[in-house]
Amino acid sequence: MSEKHYAVHWQEEEYIYPPPSFVGQANLTDPSIFERFSLDNFPECFKEFADLLDWDQYWHTTLDTSDAPCWKWFVGGKLNASYNCVDRHLDKYKNKTAIHFVPEPEDEPIVHMTYQELYRRVNETAAVLRDFVGLKAGDRVTLHLPMTPELPITMLACARLGVIHSQVFAGFSGQACGERIWDSESRVLITIDGYYRSGKLLDHKVNGDQAVEVAKKLGQDVDKILVWRRYPGKYSSAAPMVEGRDYFMDDLVKQYRGKIVQPVSMPAEGILFLMYTSGSTGRPKGVQHSIGGYLSYVTWMSKNIQDIHPEDVYWCMADIGWITGHSFIVYGPLSAAASTVIFEGVPTYPDAGRVWRIAEELDVNIFHTSPTAIRQLRKAGPDEPAKYNYDFKHMTTVGEPIEPEVWRWYYNVVGKGRAAIVDTWWQTETGGFLCSTVPGLSPMKPGSAGPGVPGIHPVIFDDEGNEIKPGEGKAGNVCIRNPWPGQMQTIWKDRDRYVSTYYGKYNKDPNSKDWRDWPYMAGDAAVMSSDGYVRILGRVDDVINVAGHRLGTKEIESAALTVEEVAEAAVIAAKDEIKGTVPDLYVSLKPGYEASQELAVKISQAVSTVVGKIARPRSVHIVPDMPKTRSGKIMRRILASISNRGDVGDVTSLANPDVVEQIRRQVQS
Ligand code: PRX
Repeated sequence: MSEKHYAVHWQEEEYIYPPPSFVGQANLTDPSIFERFSLDNFPECFKEFADLLDWDQYWHTTLDTSDAPCWKWFVGGKLNASYNCVDRHLDKYKNKTAIHFVPEPEDEPIVHMTYQELYRRVNETAAVLRDFVGLKAGDRVTLHLPMTPELPITMLACARLGVIHSQVFAGFSGQACGERIWDSESRVLITIDGYYRSGKLLDHKVNGDQAVEVAKKLGQDVDKILVWRRYPGKYSSAAPMVEGRDYFMDDLVKQYRGKIVQPVSMPAEGILFLMYTSGSTGRPKGVQHSIGGYLSYVTWMSKNIQDIHPEDVYWCMADIGWITGHSFIVYGPLSAAASTVIFEGVPTYPDAGRVWRIAEELDVNIFHTSPTAIRQLRKAGPDEPAKYNYDFKHMTTVGEPIEPEVWRWYYNVVGKGRAAIVDTWWQTETGGFLCSTVPGLSPMKPGSAGPGVPGIHPVIFDDEGNEIKPGEGKAGNVCIRNPWPGQMQTIWKDRDRYVSTYYGKYNKDPNSKDWRDWPYMAGDAAVMSSDGYVRILGRVDDVINVAGHRLGTKEIESAALTVEEVAEAAVIAAKDEIKGTVPDLYVSLKPGYEASQELAVKISQAVSTVVGKIARPRSVHIVPDMPKTRSGKIMRRILASISNRGDVGDVTSLANPDVVEQIRRQVQS
């Protein structure tokens, strides 16, 4: 990161105080919390997190640093995540709704699944996985499931057995899924025949078949594909079921109806799941999360930052295929005994009132979404929320920076001026929130995530490792001084990459066992105000944040290079009114090939096929040559300035300065 790239000019926003009605009922209003979670009390303060869980065997060591920077939390403890999210609530809440499932077709009834029903379904699914498939603790299973209740049910069934799930976002291509199957060495894929999106029942099983083929080519055989059906008994995919390999889950679970599977007592440091995310190199990394640390962290955050009480109806509109959904649709809310909403489809289909109609019908009082969804809803129906009779006490924004103006619409129009808002900054790697206000204690500041949550101590470093003090007004790399229980354990099978990516820049002694020597580098640029509030500016690595989703530029570029004609490819983040940023792709061709519209479409389709539709570039610019330094490095910064109609700066030192003006005319004309 270079500070030069970030001219930091903005006005400090005014504080907005949480409504007294919210504060009066909030779970956390004790201001001594920050003192209790000061670094002086680290790591023992995190006992409070672990104590929110039911343990089969209590832990003896809060934090073990002997394998730094692979931190071990709550060592000696044993527990089961599925038990904590389901079984332990049965005494008090068995007839309470655990999951509200809102199907996209509005004439299909909403499903209200009680904790008792969830318990039954998780058990029979676990029975299939254990007794029919033969899975056992430590095995990996890839899930490629969309937003239906079968996704959390399958995750919890895996967790019950100690099986490690690796859910791949349903919008990713079969190829992307196949690569993740291969990396995680899964012998089983769990998918579904189809699901709804924007009025269409999409064929999903075809992706599963492709994924298995891709994995096989890479050297990983899949023995079984387990296929849920969107409508049990009625198969909706064009992909054939392969005998001896493919099985319908709804048929299998019938054979295990009523079967109870004892939750496997797992070590706190066992692995709960893998979640692949994009980084600076082409290969996605399998972020590995623990059972005890992760679950305690998301439970505490759900209770105190999301302010979930068991009587609340909580709706996080993310997809469970991303970390937000894992932590804050499934594990956190269910561990906190909430009623959590699972929503199929997109927010603005069939119309801009859909979200608010659901909020009214289900009496949702906690709402959680991304700036992109807020911008979309604001554009499609700025006056819609007022037409519906719902009442949010609390709202969250997550995934990308939110413009103060968009924040104000969220606050005034969606929240009707009555809800507390938290802007939560965190990452796949961090398991749960890093920066956010505590909603019942601290004022909100539009566009700023807030200070570290209790127990998290952020700091901003310049490139040389000097601390940039709060209020200096300079941007730098945001780091966290201390480890925390929700933090990833490592990158699956790649400890070196874990150490170099997150600690390579600021650790000075690789042999140190002292956590103070290992500040965690998040990969974001940020500024800290004098009050300690952190404003996130964006990624400092080759990652593009599209609609709150992380995409690696290298992944998109490699996809473009699969097209025969393409010689070089460079992706940059172009500003977008709705999605924050979107990929813009520049390519140059091998000698003898001509640019054409058809070729641009072919390249764009290659990106969709290899990565997924979400990565499809806004435009494909076929340019005569890439702007390059004398050493041959493509100057992406110049391409980004052209796409964003900014100043390209001084280009005279390039190897080919003339091409810059040619590209500018081509792109901006
Ligand atoms: O750049 C930051 C941005 O999203 C990145 C993490 O992406 P991912 O691992 O997919 O997780 C997204 C959901 C937690 C971060 O490095 N980001 C996340 N939350 C915010 C944010 N940027 C600004 N404000 C946020 N609240």
